[in-house]
Amino acid sequence: MNKKLIKEVNRSFEKYFKTKPLLVFSPGRINLIGEHTDYNEGFVFPAAINKGIVLAIEKSDFEVSKVFALNKDEVYEFGLGEIKPLKDGGWRNYILGVISELQKLGFEIGNFDAVFAGDIPGGAGMSSSAALENSFVYGLNELFKLGLSKTEMIVVSQKAEHNYAGVKCGIMDQYASMFGVKKSALLLDCRTVESKPFKIDFGDYKLMLINTNVKHDLSETAYNDRRSVCEMVSEKLNVKALRDVLLKELEPVKSEITESDYQKVSYIIEENSRVQSFSEAIKEHNLELLGQLLYQSHDGLSEKYKVSCVELDFLVNETKKNKNILGARMMGGGFGGCTINLILKSEFKKFKKDISKKFKSEFGQACSVYSVKLSQGTHVVNKTY
Ligand code: GLA
Repeated sequence: MNKKLIKEVNRSFEKYFKTKPLLVFSPGRINLIGEHTDYNEGFVFPAAINKGIVLAIEKSDFEVSKVFALNKDEVYEFGLGEIKPLKDGGWRNYILGVISELQKLGFEIGNFDAVFAGDIPGGAGMSSSAALENSFVYGLNELFKLGLSKTEMIVVSQKAEHNYAGVKCGIMDQYASMFGVKKSALLLDCRTVESKPFKIDFGDYKLMLINTNVKHDLSETAYNDRRSVCEMVSEKLNVKALRDVLLKELEPVKSEITESDYQKVSYIIEENSRVQSFSEAIKEHNLELLGQLLYQSHDGLSEKYKVSCVELDFLVNETKKNKNILGARMMGGGFGGCTINLILKSEFKKFKKDISKKFKSEFGQACSVYSVKLSQGTHVVNKTY
């Protein structure tokens, strides 16, 4: 958690609204493995990180609500009786979406003032949008004593994303951001929406994130299209979700679907079983296997599910030339954002320098390299700031 950011958000709130706010921190997430399996009711392995959204929020006596996005230096004022998605609304739509979903559930929230800021790099595939949604649903739940459980809150956030941002996302991002456990990743079953925390200690190795700093336009439509393919095939197979299917059980429908859809669906089935293998490898501290599974995941995402891009493929291919990196893959929805790499701690600095140079010379623009800490999920920040 970024203490400087908390102080800044708190100070701005007190300055603009002349009162003391409730402070909420809501983290972004990484995902070790299990990409696009969440909306197939399968398994994922995410973790909340020490980067996220800080929200300061308090009830207001005015007829409107006011939200100040500190990073963007933008203010948005709106009435609670007229909530609808805005065209090109950006950050506003995530907040309006949360309010709208709460209203649909029959909750009457009052007006409020809010200031928020974040330190998750935008477009990095580290779920800044889930962090924002969760911060608001959590803050409003506290402020207006709505009595929602964390599980109910993440469904509000997810629906906000569906209905106000137009992305038919699964539950992984909102879950990881809300339920994160310090120093741990969560093996999440997206059917039961229950998880098991795994303490993460890779010994001499650590995780490195490399951000391509690109976000290709396609991403939202492509995401929803892939989800439709998965649902179409599940329907043909007469199962609730692809989670229920073994590779060999695809045979009867193979001739009824395109080769490209067959490849996509087989990726999902394989990736889902890779998550299980990954959790076993963590238990056995089999780092070599963890690395191989990361590479296999990337190959599937790139060649079969077709959600990678040249920049991500380049980064992953470069790691294969370095024996101190055990594995790498693209992370998140795809078409840009980050790769996640398992690298020898003592190699981190050197590889960071090497890859930054190579990426720049290949694409003419910089990539960014981060290491993250695995952190606690959405929570109220103690007011000692
Ligand atoms: C995005 C979505 C998630 C998940 C990932 C891919 O982050 O929000 O629900 O589907 O893509 O694993």
